Amino acid sequence: MGTVTSVGRARMEARVEPVYRLEGLTKVFDGTLTAVKGVDLTIQPGEKVAVIGPSGAGKTTLFRLLNLTVRVTAGRLWIAGQDVSDLRGARLRETRRKIGTVYQQHNLVPRLRVIHNVLAGRLGAWSLWQALRSLIRPRLHDVRVAHQALSQVGIPEKLWARTDELSGGQQQRVAIARVLLQNPEVILADEPVSSVDPTLAHGIVKLLVELCHSFHKTLVMNLHSVDLALAFFPRVIGFRDGQVAFDRAPGEISDDLLTDLYAGRVTGVPVEESPDAVTGAIRNCTPLLRSQ
Ligand SMILES: Nc1ncnc2c1ncn2[C@@H]1O[C@H](COP(=O)(O)OP(=O)(O)OP(=O)(O)O)[C@@H](O)[C@H]1O
Ligand SMILES: [Mg+2]
Repeated sequence: MGTVTSVGRARMEARVEPVYRLEGLTKVFDGTLTAVKGVDLTIQPGEKVAVIGPSGAGKTTLFRLLNLTVRVTAGRLWIAGQDVSDLRGARLRETRRKIGTVYQQHNLVPRLRVIHNVLAGRLGAWSLWQALRSLIRPRLHDVRVAHQALSQVGIPEKLWARTDELSGGQQQRVAIARVLLQNPEVILADEPVSSVDPTLAHGIVKLLVELCHSFHKTLVMNLHSVDLALAFFPRVIGFRDGQVAFDRAPGEISDDLLTDLYAGRVTGVPVEESPDAVTGAIRNCTPLLRSQ
């Protein structure tokens, strides 16, 4: 009997918890504006998920709930099996360290050398003294680690360059190297390529997907480019009016579904008059979608 119980327990412990479980997750701003409305979602470890949808749909708010920078108004959020909906203080900070975020405006310190911006990925794990020492003279080990992360994103030669002398695409690579150093379990990328040209955007999305694959990280990326989402992600979530409109493999996403997702949001192209134009605009992901 005792043996059966311990085997059962071992099986339960071996079961992998989802990275994220959302149940009725809701965020209301200022008591009136419901940006995220009762979202139910499960994301498994190692999954690569793209989130697409019109401007104002609530995608960034969803990401901010997922990286614990805004508080849940209602519903529940579990990260790796732990209910984090009401976390505070040290446990909140500790859980945040498991999540790395890459933003559109990569949040680098422009006047610092690249190495210092990359090493900032370790700040959460360092004491104040370690952080200050690293700014003055990084240890050889840290130099090597930063160099390795920059090699992984393809710009090792920029280690000692000033960050503001890099191109936009290179700066985004520095931001990715910084997240790699943080070594989070999950990487959330909120429109990481909106400020770079389409060729670079393609390269950076591909890089993030491949790195997450190699290092067994979960990746959730919010993209304005439907083409990039469909090309690189096995799972695509359409988000609209604070809710999941669809959650499918790219092969199951029709042009009609995309037109519905963005319906009424594509400025200058009446949906009923020119469906092809709308689909073209949507697939190219255009700033046109940024209506209102
Ligand atoms: N801190 C905030 N305070 C009040 N309202 C907010 C706040 N953040 C977002 N909102 C509102 O929540 C709604 C959803 O915004 P959100 O930024 O999540 O949309 P989005 O889908 O990321 O849009 P975009 O594609 O333009 O980035 C918007 O109406 C926005 O004005
Ligand atoms: Mg946004």
